[in-house]
Amino acid sequence: MFSLPLTDRAALHPLAPWQAAEFADFVARTRTHLAPWLPWAHTVTDTDTARAFLQRYADAQARDAGFIYGIRLDGTLVGGTLFRTFDPTAGVCEIGVWLAPEAEGHGLVTRAAQRMIDWALGERGLARVEWRTVPHNARSQAVARRLGMTRDGVLRAAFPFLGERLDIEVWSLLATEWRPAGARE
Ligand SMILES: CC(C)(COP(=O)(O)OP(=O)(O)OC[C@H]1O[C@@H](n2cnc3c(N)ncnc32)[C@H](O)[C@@H]1OP(=O)(O)O)[C@@H](O)C(=O)NCCC(=O)NCCS
Repeated sequence: MFSLPLTDRAALHPLAPWQAAEFADFVARTRTHLAPWLPWAHTVTDTDTARAFLQRYADAQARDAGFIYGIRLDGTLVGGTLFRTFDPTAGVCEIGVWLAPEAEGHGLVTRAAQRMIDWALGERGLARVEWRTVPHNARSQAVARRLGMTRDGVLRAAFPFLGERLDIEVWSLLATEWRPAGARE
């Protein structure tokens, strides 16, 4: 398995359709934690739906238009990240994240997102990384803030979810604001 170390116990790695059964198990055991925030926590309900979800990202990856990664702690899948969108022509991408409750509070997602931002802005030369969240997701906002992002504004009633239309906050980090890994610490 190719992976990028996040800490001495945690790593970030590509998540692919062949891992559908493991991903389905992860979603099943974390569903109540993820479902208030993530639409796919409602639709990934077994190995087939997990494979279809991962295949969408495999297809997007083949088009250089989206990517999905798993986060492992001591070898166990405890979360993940994705480039929900990735548009090298426009120079814009959007990062999404999730963790099992027992993996929260250790900076795993902040570290993973920093690696992704370094790659998107540094290596791939994109101009802008976006982060979208509903206004009442304080933990998500805290990650965006920790990553040095700025809250651009609110898209009113932009997100149809669980029978409501929710506002969406858009946060961003621009290439002109980004400091490479070596210059951060
Ligand atoms: C959003 C979510 C991924 C944030 O998880 P998180 O654990 O708070 O974020 P991180 O992994 O970056 O960890 C940050 C925490 O670790 C702590 N931490 C420890 N070491 C750290 C380090 N080196 N760097 C950053 N934070 C560190 C921080 O202080 C913070 O703790 P606090 O919450 O007590 O202040 C998680 O709450 C989740 O999965 N929620 C459900 C799904 C969801 O909402 N996804 C986002 C949709 S927009």
